[in-house]
Amino acid sequence: MPGVYSGLTAARQQNAPAIIIAKKHSAFTLMPYSCFIFPATIYHVTNKGTRTPMSMQYSAILITGASSGIGAALARHYACAGTTLFLSGRNLARLKQVENDCRAKGANVFSDVLDVTERETLHDYVIQCDGIMPLSLVIANAGISAGTGQDGESPEQVRDILATNVAGVLNTIDPAVACMTLRRRGQIAIMASQASYRGLPSAPAYCASKAAVRVYGEGLRGALAPFGVKVNVICPGFVQSRITDANDFPMPFFMKADKAAKIIDRGLTRNKGIIAFPWQMNIASTFLKLLPQSILDRAAKRIPRKAASAPRVLPE
Ligand SMILES: NC(=O)c1ccc[n+]([C@@H]2O[C@H](COP(=O)([O-])OP(=O)(O)OC[C@H]3O[C@@H](n4cnc5c(N)ncnc54)[C@H](OP(=O)(O)O)[C@@H]3O)[C@@H](O)[C@H]2O)c1
Repeated sequence: MPGVYSGLTAARQQNAPAIIIAKKHSAFTLMPYSCFIFPATIYHVTNKGTRTPMSMQYSAILITGASSGIGAALARHYACAGTTLFLSGRNLARLKQVENDCRAKGANVFSDVLDVTERETLHDYVIQCDGIMPLSLVIANAGISAGTGQDGESPEQVRDILATNVAGVLNTIDPAVACMTLRRRGQIAIMASQASYRGLPSAPAYCASKAAVRVYGEGLRGALAPFGVKVNVICPGFVQSRITDANDFPMPFFMKADKAAKIIDRGLTRNKGIIAFPWQMNIASTFLKLLPQSILDRAAKRIPRKAASAPRVLPE
């Protein structure tokens, strides 16, 4: 499968015995071995410690963009004995680090390198994860932003942002929704942002991408409720991550990623439609949403921008 780190392939290349495959814990390769994994998970539940009460309801969690930032913090937060985690990202080294941390906390972990923009890959991946262990929670978290220097977002950046933050979310949740509606149980969390409240000159494509998934999630929540599937939209303010590491301007109410993970978990457990935090930033963002466009136009020059991270490429 293109672009996917496969534990099975790695084991075959090394001419290694089958047991190595299980240790590699790639969801793509472990589907045929699921009958061995279930007893192993039960062993974890009965013999290895306890879980935090807040996360008690989730036995199998899939998180995209788990190799850093908020996704990695969520993975570490949910990691405990009795929980199976399906983690993915593009960077193998970072993903492995998160996988090791989660396994050290007793979780059953499968990690795969994949790109959420590849629809077929995501479809096969999610279906195989669900086959290993029926997914109780899917967090469509993977996302990117672009530097927006004086030239603004380049046409390539705009397309990359929409492909990752919008199509990537749909690629992740569509197969999960299909599985969950069939068994009339499950929860889908969509990572939006408070940047979704208003189109800002500092990041037009990013704001647009987050507005698209926020509004989609708001509607999907009511549409899927009769099928027993919960949908939640997450709207963080500024949280420490590789995205905010690139910001060289003051970020009000800046929050550590592990604190954000706790707030998200609490919101998901309570099945809140919109999980927006920090509350102070949410008030400020809501105020921004209500401002007349003419005032925003006048303030546009003062809105901070990131340094451009990629050269602007003009269309032919
Ligand atoms: N940090 C904030 O202040 C903030 C605020 C509001 C919303 N958010 C949203 O929170 C989510 C997580 O971002 P973050 O802030 O934690 O930033 P981050 O540290 O850069 O994490 C982004 C994650 O998404 C993954 N990713 C990006 N593009 C991908 C692709 N095409 N396929 C698969 N994985 C991909 C990255 O993988 P690699 O490590 O392999 O690149 C990484 O694991 C994003 O949707 C972001 O928009 C963040």
